[in-house]
This record gives sequence, C-alpha cells and structure tokens, in this order.
Amino acid sequence: MLVCLVASLLQTRVPDLVEHRIANIFKPLASPAQSEFDIALLVFAITGAIFVVVAGLIVYTVWRFRQKPGDNALQEPPQVYGSNQIEVAWTVIPILIVFVLIGVTTRVIAGVQNASPPASELKVTVIGHQWWWEVLYPDYGFVTANEVHMPASRDGKTATYLQLESADVIHSFWVPQLSGKTDLIPNRTNFMWMDPREPGVYLGNCAEYCGTQHANMLLRVVSQEPADFKQWTIEQQRRSVDDPSLNAAKAVFQSLACVNCHNITGLGKANSGSKFGPDLTHLMSRQTIGSGVLTNTPENLRAWVNDPQVAKPGCLMPSMRLTPGELTQVVNYLESLK
Ligand code: CUA
Repeated sequence: MLVCLVASLLQTRVPDLVEHRIANIFKPLASPAQSEFDIALLVFAITGAIFVVVAGLIVYTVWRFRQKPGDNALQEPPQVYGSNQIEVAWTVIPILIVFVLIGVTTRVIAGVQNASPPASELKVTVIGHQWWWEVLYPDYGFVTANEVHMPASRDGKTATYLQLESADVIHSFWVPQLSGKTDLIPNRTNFMWMDPREPGVYLGNCAEYCGTQHANMLLRVVSQEPADFKQWTIEQQRRSVDDPSLNAAKAVFQSLACVNCHNITGLGKANSGSKFGPDLTHLMSRQTIGSGVLTNTPENLRAWVNDPQVAKPGCLMPSMRLTPGELTQVVNYLESLK
C-alpha cells in the first residue's frame, strides 16, 4: 500500500486529465479490485477480532495476576494441566476460521481468474521489458507503449482482457485501483481483466523487482469514453506522419542506430519490426517518456534523446552522443510523430 502510494506520487504529472493520482487500494474503481477490496475487509474484520480477543486476554491476565504486596516472589502460582475442553476449543476454532478464510479467498480468486472473455471484448497484449511496457492491440493491428488505453465500463458489462507476457525477466502488472497484481513471466502467458468504471488515468507500476530501473517501470491505464477510445484506435492505426519539410531530419534519424531498436510504421523497410525498444509511430500521442519518468515535452524529449542515462540510469538505451545539430534534427522528427 505504502509502496504503491509512494511510487504513484513519483509518477509524472500530466495536466488536463483526471488522474487517480493516489493509487489507493481502498478506493477500487473496477470489478476485480472491488472483489479484492471486499475480501480484504472481511479478512481485516476477522483478524482484527482475533487480535482484540487475544490482546484483551493478555492485558486482562497481566493485570489480574500481577504481583501484589505480600506475595511470595519465590513461590510458583498454582499450575493447571490438561483441560480437554480448552484444548479442543482452541484447536478447532482456529481451524474453522482458517477454512472460512481459505474458502472465501478461493471463491474470489476463482471468480476473478475464471471470468472468460466474451468474444467481442477488447483484447490487449502487454509484454514486460526491462524497463518498459509493450502494449499490443492485435484486433486493431498496432503497438504502443507504457499506456494501456481502454474504454470505460460504467455498467460493468464490458471488460478489457489483458494477455501478459515477458520479453526478459519476471515483471508484475499492477494498477491498484483496477485489479490485483499479475506476474508477466518469460515463456508463460498469464491473463487478467479489468473494467474501469470511470474515464481517467489510473497509475500503476511494475510490482516485481526486475532490475536497476524496476522502480521507474511506471504504467498508466487511460480509460476513455468508448467513442474517444474508438477515435484513439483510428489515430493509432495510421502510419507515421510524413512531413516533406522534415525529410532531412528523417534522413538523419534513419542514418542512426535508433532504427535498430525502435519501429516507426511508415518509415520504411530499414526498421520494420524492430521491437527491442518502444514503438515510436505515435510517440507524441503519449503522455510520458521513458515509461513514466518524464513528461512528454519537447525539452524533456531532447534531454532524453541526448542522454537517457540521466533520467533513467542503467536503462538499456545508451546516449548516442549526437552533435547538437543531429540532436535537433532527431527531436524535430520525433516531434512530428503525432
Ligand atoms: Cu518490471 Cu519490476
């Protein structure tokens, strides 16, 4: 709880959007998070009651049987052994409590995990990388990064199903107000679903230590009105903007090693299919750079391309040591990728 709260506060602030900044597990805004919240309350209530009873008995005993003036400190108090009723009671009651907790927990886990997707629902594939998120929309045929857009589901009748994979090590997908954590494991496919009830930006983060920049593997779910989501998919499906006035800048970009890692659909054969780094086709439609470490502004983009190791030490994108002229050209070209 505290960890997610702190991580969320570190997230880049983007103006003009409803942001659920404090990723508060006690304020669930989707069905899986709601059922997990309900069961958490039940467990708190039961364990809280046990705590009150046990602590109360201890306090009572300590007070009732404290040493009094005139007691012989060397004499043992009367010893009581072997009450079958008491032994049976304090064995059976905890077993029953544990079985109740196991039963309700299993039911909630099964209810969340076994919900099978209706054929028409949105499917999204999320692939964890050190230290960013690749986000694929297979039904729409485009790829983006670090922001998972999905339609809001005010009535809870539609949902987004996430297929979770990893390109390298184990990561964990966690947006506290929408659902619990699910790991992204190499050579294994996991699933989860969520139905954000309100449009807005829900902040999350990688919840499994995955290397140096684990803490900066930030994540955002952008929940939109269905019409806005549809519009967003249409924009994402477009090829990259081709502005003839930027041909020189584009040529500089193509001549550099950037294209070995980053795909830009429409840029040409040189880089088609590069998936080592985030797809940049619509870079400027995203709110942040570096998986949430910087707001996506021209100044930050320039600083990031100049040397990503400043904002995100240890990240796998090196400084290309561009001359100021090359840097300007590259940033100009990237800024055209609306
Ligand atoms: Cu990815 Cu921690």
